[in-house]
Amino acid sequence: MNAFPLVSVRGLSKAFGGVQALDGVQFELLHGEVHALMGENGAGKSTLMKILAGVYQKDSGEIRLAGEPVEIRSPRAAQALGISIIHQELNLMNHLTAAQNIFIGREPRTRFRLFLDEEALNARAGAIFQRMHLHLDPRTGVGSLTVAKQQMVEIAKALSFDSRVLIMDEPTAALNNAEIAELFRIIEQLKQQGVGIVYISHKMDELKQISDRVTVLRDGQYIGTIPTATTSVDTVIGMMVGRALAQEERHVPDTSGNEVLLQVSGLNRGAAIRDVNFQVRRGEVLGLAGLMGAGRTEVARAVFGADRVDSGEVRVRGRPVQIRTPRHAVELGIGYLSEDRKQFGLATGLDVESNIALSSMRRFLQAGIFLQQGAIRAAAERLVRSLNIRTPSVVQQVRLLSGGNQQKVVIAKWLLRDCDILFFDEPTRGIDVGAKAEIYKLLNALAGQGKAIVMISSELPEILRMSHRILVMCEGRITGELAAGEASQERIMHLATQRETLTAE
Ligand SMILES: Nc1ncnc2c1ncn2[C@@H]1O[C@H](COP(=O)(O)OP(=O)(O)OP(=O)(O)O)[C@@H](O)[C@H]1O
Ligand SMILES: [Mg+2]
Repeated sequence: MNAFPLVSVRGLSKAFGGVQALDGVQFELLHGEVHALMGENGAGKSTLMKILAGVYQKDSGEIRLAGEPVEIRSPRAAQALGISIIHQELNLMNHLTAAQNIFIGREPRTRFRLFLDEEALNARAGAIFQRMHLHLDPRTGVGSLTVAKQQMVEIAKALSFDSRVLIMDEPTAALNNAEIAELFRIIEQLKQQGVGIVYISHKMDELKQISDRVTVLRDGQYIGTIPTATTSVDTVIGMMVGRALAQEERHVPDTSGNEVLLQVSGLNRGAAIRDVNFQVRRGEVLGLAGLMGAGRTEVARAVFGADRVDSGEVRVRGRPVQIRTPRHAVELGIGYLSEDRKQFGLATGLDVESNIALSSMRRFLQAGIFLQQGAIRAAAERLVRSLNIRTPSVVQQVRLLSGGNQQKVVIAKWLLRDCDILFFDEPTRGIDVGAKAEIYKLLNALAGQGKAIVMISSELPEILRMSHRILVMCEGRITGELAAGEASQERIMHLATQRETLTAE
């Protein structure tokens, strides 16, 4: 049928300043293939794909499309060649409708070329949604859609260019299980139509589910390409990190006699938080499990003073407090590492050092006036080392780091603030397996130093591995508590789906 691979890349190199992001990399994509691209944070995955999508220009190497050598000089050129990319961070305009987003810049005009032909626009978008078997009104404002639906709109946009190559960079990072299933269904369908799909993800289980082959990069180098069906996850991890990962000993300390650092009673906020009660002690890692939308983030935000509550009492070290703003929460020693980094976590235009130190500035004020530049730098460098943040220096702008390394910068920032009570909301989202292990070690060390940690995670293995005690939420309520010893994926899932209507009578 098709004699040539859809895409074939050879000897591709790309450097950013002193960083060799790609070093003689090869890659091949077949018609109707789902090809997973794996590698640690900063390995070069996004860079490779951005070159194919015309976002970056290669330094050297060859790219062939269906056997023909091509130069991809711009995103527009890539689109014209049938290559579309859905970026790690979505790029939609929230104030426009789904249809307007899909055809932005190439809207059909009415006969007089003056007015947009909204009807034609919506009809065309509707036809694409139909092709995807997606139930979505093209006139819906994108801002009001869930992340999952926004992603579907991005895919629709890609399809509107008649793409033969569709690149998805960590598409499921913010999706729940049902939404992932929906995405996989659409991927299957595109595959049947002969579209080649490049799939970047840090979730090892997805690899088996969705991909035909996997290519692994490490430190900008090509490591290998193997068929997924006959390969074990451990083999892929071994290729990614270049070493076997040591499993840390699981140790659950007895914290039952420790001081209660945070106590929350009768917390309510509309339907999002319903009569939530819990406490965390010094040295404890409390896991907050549940499906997406169960209310875990809402609880963290309420305690942190980011959202108003209807009622409830919060005690910090036994003392009742009224936390009205995040700033107040931080003064009381409460930290919140948000799941939404872009919005709350990082000033991406600033450098690594400023991001880490900005919120701890007071600590670096000498006599209240002079910033101790040297102390800031030393602290930032220490954290960059201990978290293994891949950056040429601490004065690199954060937006130039890979996605996972940006996440580590957020963690570094909170570590420096020296809070006693720390909420970690999906701390390892977008983080590679090796760095995950580092972050787990770090959380354990923080608990060992006597901090109280609340960890929100949608990944059950992570909750089970890290928590000393687990609270499960469903629809705004706490539906159960499990000790580390008695918890299992099944028991958590059971509690996480315990809707009120089922338990009422
Ligand atoms: N525009 C840029 N300027 C400078 N350095 C960059 C730029 N884009 C990427 N890099 C660097 O190139 C390397 C590869 O980054 P890339 O984003 O491709 O990694 P990745 O494999 O996608 O990682 P992640 O899993 O964290 O998303 C990193 O060291 C990154 O900091
Ligand atoms: Mg990336």
